[in-house]
Amino acid sequence: MFSWQYGVIIALVAGAVEQAIAVYGQYERIEQVSGFDYFNYDLRVRKYNRTTATLNGTIHIKQPMDDTYRFSTDVFHSSLGNNQYEHTPLHLPESGFCQFMDLLHREYPNAIKDIVHLTEPNKCPIPACEMHFLDLEFPNDVLPTSITRGVWKLILKGAHEGETMFHAVIVVRVFDNLFF
Ligand SMILES: *[C@@H]1O[C@H](CO)[C@@H](O)[C@H](O)[C@H]1NC(C)=O
Ligand SMILES: *[C@@H]1O[C@H](CO)[C@@H](O)[C@H](O)[C@H]1NC(C)=O
Repeated sequence: MFSWQYGVIIALVAGAVEQAIAVYGQYERIEQVSGFDYFNYDLRVRKYNRTTATLNGTIHIKQPMDDTYRFSTDVFHSSLGNNQYEHTPLHLPESGFCQFMDLLHREYPNAIKDIVHLTEPNKCPIPACEMHFLDLEFPNDVLPTSITRGVWKLILKGAHEGETMFHAVIVVRVFDNLFF
């Protein structure tokens, strides 16, 4: 999906109605653990310049995906950024793949608009395709000003007919200002 991960993080941290840019997110790490028959996240976080990390690469959706592919999230927070994570109650409602992509199109159009060959809204199943991320910065305007600083880790899991079929991890660091 969009980038599946990208969107989940956005959805995760979004929620403030008023979107003042007072906090900044930086991608730290993205890793796909399993599910390569379904998706291939050929994505990496790249140091773009002294102050900016970008997400670059391609998400390959390798076979048509519909809402029978169910995705859920677990969210962890580390205030010190020292790998001591606490499980938080934050998560997205479990949803089908098409439903999730439609949510992104509806709620976060600005955050996903720079993804090249983004899937079309209201189309299910979503066919096999490739979406390109060309040095995309974290979309800061989706961060609510009240979000807690520190390192946020999102675990994304996909299941089909009760079997886990996909697992990925995204880590984003949230700062108060750009002079970290
Ligand atoms: C780093 O790149 C970003 C995105 O192009 C730009 O906004 C920022 O000013 C750059 N920072 C430096 C120190 O060059
Ligand atoms: C960035 O991603 C694009 C699309 O996958 C790829 O063609 C390009 O080689 C990547 N650039 C770097 C520096 O990795």
